Amino acid sequence: MMNRHVRLARRPIGKLRSADLELVETPIPDPGPGEVLIRNTWLSIDPSIRIRLADTTPNGYLPPLQPGDELSGLALGTVVASRSPEFAIGDLVSHTLGYREYAIVGTQAQTIGGYGAPARIDAGQLPIQWFLGPLGSAGLTAYVGLFEILELTTTDVLWVSSAAGAVGALAAQLAKLRGTTVLGSVGSPEKVAYLRDELGIPAFDYHDGPLPKSLAALAPRGIDAYFDNVGGDHLTAALDALRPSGRIALCGAIAGYDDSAVPGPPNLFTMVSKGLRMRGFRAGSFTHLEDSMRREVSGYLADGRLIHRESVFDGIESAIAALLAMLSGATVGKTLCRLDT
Ligand SMILES: NC(=O)c1ccc[n+]([C@@H]2O[C@H](COP(=O)([O-])OP(=O)(O)OC[C@H]3O[C@@H](n4cnc5c(N)ncnc54)[C@H](OP(=O)(O)O)[C@@H]3O)[C@@H](O)[C@H]2O)c1
Repeated sequence: MMNRHVRLARRPIGKLRSADLELVETPIPDPGPGEVLIRNTWLSIDPSIRIRLADTTPNGYLPPLQPGDELSGLALGTVVASRSPEFAIGDLVSHTLGYREYAIVGTQAQTIGGYGAPARIDAGQLPIQWFLGPLGSAGLTAYVGLFEILELTTTDVLWVSSAAGAVGALAAQLAKLRGTTVLGSVGSPEKVAYLRDELGIPAFDYHDGPLPKSLAALAPRGIDAYFDNVGGDHLTAALDALRPSGRIALCGAIAGYDDSAVPGPPNLFTMVSKGLRMRGFRAGSFTHLEDSMRREVSGYLADGRLIHRESVFDGIESAIAALLAMLSGATVGKTLCRLDT
């Protein structure tokens, strides 16, 4: 039996291209002592892997991958062989060895910023892939950013960037459900319509003219909080639009993932002049909040108040296309790759 997996073929320059990655086939390894063999069923397609394809990574981040290395990413799968007392054949397990059909997972398995340690999932009647989306990393990231980092209140006006994406669409809806006034920014008119018509959240397309003008049209009196998934010019615009004592949650900076030389905001002094607070975070430092996040989010999903959309690609042979599509803005909601389930 063979195992197909995605690896880095060559270092990307600028935008990731399909030739930068390759799908290769190797024999399925046997688990060693303490390890399990997992047949992956769902792969999470996340922007953060792009950071590790560059020749250097930011201080404190995971090291860069080298050409020939397998890509990693959050995944769900079923244990098909076990030499671990912790997992039995048939268990559904979440872990970080995605981008492959079969994974050998040990007790010392890698996490992504503290998230994704191997864990048995009891999905009950819920779609299992939700544990990679609203009940998994995306849900925890949105929840932590809003309620721990921004300490959102009902009187705030919040801007969420990349608001039609996995984290952004959850963050925008969770904030609205808790009574906050929310606006979103996205990369296409279709995504503006999705937010406005289906999620009930006013939004603008960041391609439609200067960001300060678009922001002012939806938030004429400024904003109190900014959930940043993008960085770059979006962060600069937020610093200008924030009212005194405003807050920023730095969740991601996708505008710079293709080019590590993106400069910081030129208007950083507004942090001083307006007494702003900006804090970066990684969901993996807040796994103690996962249970409370799951209770709240699963309730909203069950009664239909939270809309969850997925962009699903089928088969490991579509994993590279899924990653390129997500990075370029061609997907909506949570991007996933479904293997033979
Ligand atoms: N801190 C954490 O623990 C943590 C955890 C998970 C994710 N994140 C970060 O959260 C952010 C969202 O992740 P996600 O998984 O939910 O991805 P996503 O939003 O579902 O997908 C990425 C989206 O980014 C947008 N985008 C791409 N290039 C852009 C650019 N130059 N300017 C503006 N938007 C751009 C595209 O949407 P448009 O069509 O709208 O442009 C694309 O669909 C990322 O920055 C990610 O690294 C952080």
